[in-house]
Amino acid sequence: MNVIKSILQKNLFTLEDIVRLLQADDEEKAIIFKKAYDIKEKYSGNKVWLRALLEIANICKKNCYYCGIRKGNKHIHRYEIPLDELKNSICNAYTSGYNSLVLQSGENTSEAFNDKISSALEYASELTQKSTGITLSCGEQDEKTLQRWFDAGAERYLLRIETSNEELYYKIHPRDKFHDFSERTNCLFRLKKIGFQTGSGIMIGLPFQTDEDLARDLIFMQEIDIDMCGMGPYIEHPQTPLANQKDIKLPTLEQRANKTLLMIAVLRIIMKDINIAATTALHSINSENLVKAIYCGANVIMPNLTPEKYKENYFLYKNKQSVNKNNCNLAKLTNDLKIINHIIDYGKGNPVHFKKTKPYKLNAYHKLEKR
Ligand code: 5AD
Ligand code: SF4
Repeated sequence: MNVIKSILQKNLFTLEDIVRLLQADDEEKAIIFKKAYDIKEKYSGNKVWLRALLEIANICKKNCYYCGIRKGNKHIHRYEIPLDELKNSICNAYTSGYNSLVLQSGENTSEAFNDKISSALEYASELTQKSTGITLSCGEQDEKTLQRWFDAGAERYLLRIETSNEELYYKIHPRDKFHDFSERTNCLFRLKKIGFQTGSGIMIGLPFQTDEDLARDLIFMQEIDIDMCGMGPYIEHPQTPLANQKDIKLPTLEQRANKTLLMIAVLRIIMKDINIAATTALHSINSENLVKAIYCGANVIMPNLTPEKYKENYFLYKNKQSVNKNNCNLAKLTNDLKIINHIIDYGKGNPVHFKKTKPYKLNAYHKLEKR
């Protein structure tokens, strides 16, 4: 216990310190969670920002070994929400009070998709008079496309690194031109260079992943200086190669969720003023995890406003759940959050961390570009 207390007193943690924090027992975790809670309150306040999530297409050119909508999965129905319906969904989210939207899709680099996103962004910017924070999560894209989307009104972009360990990256992705680790890191820097509020994140409880990998993931996010983070437990999807790989032993889902909570807390301690999401995967393991995640450092929740007829096809892993408006547990969530002195807010909720004038970290960029 004293070890944890003395680590937490430091201003800068070593890799070993972070590994030790990630191995905390229950009693030690309580101290870490409380520290993360206090830091969040001090730097970001007690608001939980809501983002309306629209899963706009499940067509993906990639074949990540863990994901249910990978290109190679022939068992799912592919969809792309037509532009008119997409505009309706955006309008619906806005009139329901959301001032923050997330448009998420598989990775599609076609001209037609590029145009559609641009049109949706232009529509949203006009509708909301630019009062709404729009986040894209549409995979790796080239600089021209990202700049076009930025100019059309997207301010935020999420691109998870999935794991910062290159070797592990190629255990969960094919090693080919569509799944290039350096291209992924370069894309993160591209986003920062353009001026996006940049989000990343990882999966927790992957096969072969160690606590040292996780500690390095946290350091990676600190080094590239992200503004937002989404981390969730890895959850098997039965129609994927990773889930069907024999002889791998994984932590239980509960252990993966608990490790995710600890990762959120440690990230909050080392990156005090970023936005951290309480993710869908965490929620899918146990709905109580959302409030727990907020307690230990998260400050964003993403209710799913994807039209019902599409939702079931955005099936990334088994038993995927969502906070949503209709069946809604939002009322219950509001009450549960009150107990830990948090309130839901439908505002734009920029990460305090993000400052437009922040000098862009060229050193880190060059270091990673060279790999
Ligand atoms: N378990 C947990 N998260 C997953 N994702 C994809 N497949 C899975 C899975 N099986 C996450 C990835 C991706 C995000 C859209 O969903 O981190 O970046
Ligand atoms: Fe496509 Fe993302 Fe799934 Fe990979 S994780 S297959 S990029 S949707």
